[in-house]
Amino acid sequence: MTLSWDDDHALTAADLLAPARPKAPAPPAAADAGDRRSAPPELRMLPPATGKPFAATVRDETLQARMGAARITVDEKRIINCRADLNQLVPFKYEWAWKKYLDACANHWMPQEINMSADVAIWKSNRLSDDERRIIKRNLGFFSTADSLVANNLVLAVYRHITNPEARQYLLRQAFEEALHTHAYQYIIESLGMDECEIFNMYRELPAVHDKAAFELQFTRELCDPNFHTGTVEADQRLLRNLIGFYVFMEGVFFYVGFVQMLSFGRRNMMIGASEQFQYILRDESMHLNFGIDVINQIKLENPHLWTAQFQAEMIELLKEAVELEYRYAVDTMPRGVLGLNAGMFRDYLQFVANRRCIQIDLPQQWPAAVNPFPWMSEVLDLNKEKNFFETRVTEYQSGGALQW
Ligand SMILES: [Fe+2]
Ligand SMILES: [Fe+2]
Repeated sequence: MTLSWDDDHALTAADLLAPARPKAPAPPAAADAGDRRSAPPELRMLPPATGKPFAATVRDETLQARMGAARITVDEKRIINCRADLNQLVPFKYEWAWKKYLDACANHWMPQEINMSADVAIWKSNRLSDDERRIIKRNLGFFSTADSLVANNLVLAVYRHITNPEARQYLLRQAFEEALHTHAYQYIIESLGMDECEIFNMYRELPAVHDKAAFELQFTRELCDPNFHTGTVEADQRLLRNLIGFYVFMEGVFFYVGFVQMLSFGRRNMMIGASEQFQYILRDESMHLNFGIDVINQIKLENPHLWTAQFQAEMIELLKEAVELEYRYAVDTMPRGVLGLNAGMFRDYLQFVANRRCIQIDLPQQWPAAVNPFPWMSEVLDLNKEKNFFETRVTEYQSGGALQW
């Protein structure tokens, strides 16, 4: 879906001509937060109604350079349903979003920087077992399309509904990083001389991979509809569901079996290039996850009426489903114990990870007895935060001063 000048006028006119919605004696879940006159006082956070539907007003501000408009104040900025001009990055309201953008830029890397020759030698030798090859191929199969699903969701579904310039700045950076991740998988697949079509089509051929992708697509479909707009309780909850679906379930649960498996090769001094690529990707992904958690919690803070008991119960059920799908993926990639790992350990690990996700978005932990069988994963994540991960980098990026004209 793309916005165009024509869309703006057509939708604005259509919206203005739409008959007024009846005042519903509706249950809280169906109440319309976009109608500020009927909203309880704590929900009246938006500027007075202009008579225009919310989405139409936002588009006017985004796509028009009105002469004489007043300068922006921080108080006008909101993470969703904001009426302030979205083309003006400053003044910052959400410093955390800007900081994450700067941190992400400071950690730039490219897949070709990593030497793959040791991986090629071992892949072409007989030193890997069939079970080890299966793990590598299936992870490349899952991740090579998963990162495209994430990128497409960001660009086609999420971006236009996040109405804050500093958060959008990070989203643009994240979208590029997702492209880099897909690039990294393609680079590994090409380096090892794998059958590209077999790997990239795995999400349409292999049930354990397909089911995770299908689970995610349910969150993205509706938001890609050009007629979808935020501004009602129901629509804002759809957006929140999408953000939890992708940031918490996809990037926060579905990536973790693969990360443990691929990093385990590196820990055993095998497939060190691929393992290093995954380590860089894990570093990016943990930042994506943290950004997503911050956005989700900011939306909840500004719109507490969205976080109903019913909505929370639904998120918990979806999280349990995600854990089950990821466990099935662990069994599928690893029908027998290998690399010192087995599927049973992943049952524990996923419950441990899912508990963390519950804490992060303020849901009750669902598996209080879960323990982490891979404490070294936490060390990797902690190390990523503290150490200069790139002190051994092979390529220096050209800065402006180094360019020759
Ligand atoms: Fe990614
Ligand atoms: Fe990501």
